[in-house]
Amino acid sequence: MSRVVIVSNRLPVTVERAGEAVRVVPSVGGLATGLRRPHEQGGGPWVGWPGDLAGLDPEQQARVEARLSDLRLAPVHLTSEEVQRYYQDYSNALLWPVFHSFPGEVPLEMGGAAEYERVNGRFADAVAATARPGDVIWIHDYQLLRLPALLRERLPEARIGFFLHIPFPSSDLFRVLPQREALLEGMLGADLIGFHTASYMRHFSSSVLRVLGAWTDVDRIRWRGREVRIGVFPMGVDAADFAGTAHGADMDEEVRALRRDGSRLIVGIDRLDYTKGIPRRLLAYERLLREHPELRGKVRLVQVAVPSRTEVGAYQEFRDQVDGLVGRIHGAFATPTWSPIHYLSRGLDRAQVVALYRAADVMLVTPIRDGMNLVAKEFVAVRDDGDGVLVLSEFTGAAAELAEAVQVNPYDEAGTAAAIQRALEMPEDERRTRMTGLRRRVTRYDVHWWARTFLERLREAPAPVRPQG
Ligand code: G6P
Repeated sequence: MSRVVIVSNRLPVTVERAGEAVRVVPSVGGLATGLRRPHEQGGGPWVGWPGDLAGLDPEQQARVEARLSDLRLAPVHLTSEEVQRYYQDYSNALLWPVFHSFPGEVPLEMGGAAEYERVNGRFADAVAATARPGDVIWIHDYQLLRLPALLRERLPEARIGFFLHIPFPSSDLFRVLPQREALLEGMLGADLIGFHTASYMRHFSSSVLRVLGAWTDVDRIRWRGREVRIGVFPMGVDAADFAGTAHGADMDEEVRALRRDGSRLIVGIDRLDYTKGIPRRLLAYERLLREHPELRGKVRLVQVAVPSRTEVGAYQEFRDQVDGLVGRIHGAFATPTWSPIHYLSRGLDRAQVVALYRAADVMLVTPIRDGMNLVAKEFVAVRDDGDGVLVLSEFTGAAAELAEAVQVNPYDEAGTAAAIQRALEMPEDERRTRMTGLRRRVTRYDVHWWARTFLERLREAPAPVRPQG
């Protein structure tokens, strides 16, 4: 079987500096966590950005490089200007809000297009340098939309797959982007383009039709003498691995400690991102406590918000908003012996996250918009006790699959508050029936199924033909 070369902006580990020391820590986010196992099993390198290595002394740098190479990771180093322009300005201040249908978050000054092109070109050079004939190349996510075409220029015969981990917006929104033609042409350099849901795929097709005027069919697009396949591949989690962690050493003790005070436990775990709907979730919880005084002292919300993209303006304002709401709810409802919210503004290690999943009576996953949301699936994977209720936003990719969750419209504050209450009061047999349905899906369609299915389809796609004319 041919090797798989994985390419993404961020590697599954990030190099961090803590004073004089250098640490190599697991990266945050669905892409990095989800692809870790397929990479371990795929045999090929993973090409991507390891984080900022500037300022390391030569010895530290050599140690980091050796560690990355042991892990089969091929770093693409970015200068601080590239990080600013390609990663922060273009990828995260422009593409991220447009693709998540938040055009209001797009700053007045949109910069970074030239650096985006240039860094995608550097990724193409790095992949071309490491790929061997016969390798399958699998490129991931919105930071690298130009890469498939730029790589095709360097390796015309290569088998290239592309997967988008975030939503694809309606063509009306997509057309906001000044570089809309180039971005679509970039993606069409691939042989197979994958999306989490059928609606993202339809949006992509209609953008290709409207912006490029190309011929599109349900599952293929004709483009410059080649046929590009498109498909729906909902990403899963490593369910067996999560279930294993759920029964690891000391786990029972951790779970008991979380439940010690006897209150019902509601849990939210998100990157601190404005798409995740944390403020609206807090408002719904506040309403629940206001309208149901009997719940005070009997429930508590543990909200973990992992800091993310802290240099991007929209994220800074958003953080202040969340801090303000947490303070307000605390001020209104806390007593000397009870806190309505435990708010943790930092990442937890995997065992702590799994303990929270296990301890939760109700898991709140209520983004305003989310490509898939793997937290919802991780929670289900961990709950082999068959209990626990998932409250899930209908605006996540996961909602298209997880019909047995209590689905909510996160914009509807009263409806979300009512859904949390319903989840808290749900009879045990209903909880178990729903969880059984969820588990069937999450354990069967896991991350290995996802990677296998995508790669099989990619290997079957028509052989790339050299561009005509
Ligand atoms: C989402 C994106 C990933 C990204 C992750 C973390 O899951 O789809 O591409 O890596 O967020 O964001 P960051 O900007 O820290 O890489």
